[in-house]
Amino acid sequence: MIVLTQIEDVRAHLRAERLAAAKEGKELQVGFVPTMGYLHDGHASLLRSARMDNDLVVLSIFVNPIQFGPNEDLDRYPRDRDKDMALAKREGVDIVFLPTVEEMYPEPTKTKVLVSELTDHLCGATRPGHFDGVTTVVSKLLHIVVPNRAYFGQKDAQQLAVITQMVKDLNMDLEIIPCPIVREEDGLALSSRNVYLSPEERQAALVLSRSLRQAEQLARQSEGATAEDIFQELVRTIETERAAQIDYAEIRRFPSLAPVSGSLPVKEIEGKILIAIAVKFGATRLIDNVILTMEGDK
Ligand code: PAF
Repeated sequence: MIVLTQIEDVRAHLRAERLAAAKEGKELQVGFVPTMGYLHDGHASLLRSARMDNDLVVLSIFVNPIQFGPNEDLDRYPRDRDKDMALAKREGVDIVFLPTVEEMYPEPTKTKVLVSELTDHLCGATRPGHFDGVTTVVSKLLHIVVPNRAYFGQKDAQQLAVITQMVKDLNMDLEIIPCPIVREEDGLALSSRNVYLSPEERQAALVLSRSLRQAEQLARQSEGATAEDIFQELVRTIETERAAQIDYAEIRRFPSLAPVSGSLPVKEIEGKILIAIAVKFGATRLIDNVILTMEGDK
């Protein structure tokens, strides 16, 4: 495993690897996993998929300042370089790209990549500018690595939808591979931000997966349950937890993120629906979701 901090070194290394493969008559397949570090088993599952599908796996670790709002957790975002390196090695990463902020943004960027509509609601509503920062840095990283496949967790379902749209709209020549949410045994979705939770808040945060499980059950088992019924059930369950402060709870189509009609029985909906929540426990805001394929799709 090699660790590179300079964009030019990543390019030179990949160029050499591609040339070596081409000399043997092969096209090198490059898998890319962009992260902000503080890696956990969710990231490990992305790396494992990348390892299986590709000849070479690139992991980037970069806490991207332009996707954090002024009152967000950029300064205290958790970092643990040694643990990250150990996990990367264990998962068979070939190249770790570890740029500094100066390397990625030698001057304030005058060019931004903005995806409209999909970014207006859900996390986009409470984190203005967040997705512009994400799509800008992800396109920079994709231009640096030029992978055949890039891997994103479904835990950030909106991010996944936004990046998939960006790649399609800009004719970027790669495949976006979605990977399922990884949970603790008790249901809590893995997130680098879980480290902020006090023991009491961590216990309270179990209401996220519990409420989604109940919503899913209602959607699947109850014949005439409408989106409005599921929404009410979701909110009712979250509100049983006193420490939980709802930022949003929404049901939308996936991946278009278009709203669903509240009065329509969800079983009749064609395609996938996303049930997404963002909830604050003390100062920590956590997100979770479930994506369902309804019977209307069969
Ligand atoms: O999901 C993340 O960790 C970040 O948003 C990403 C995609 C690495 C961009 O900074």
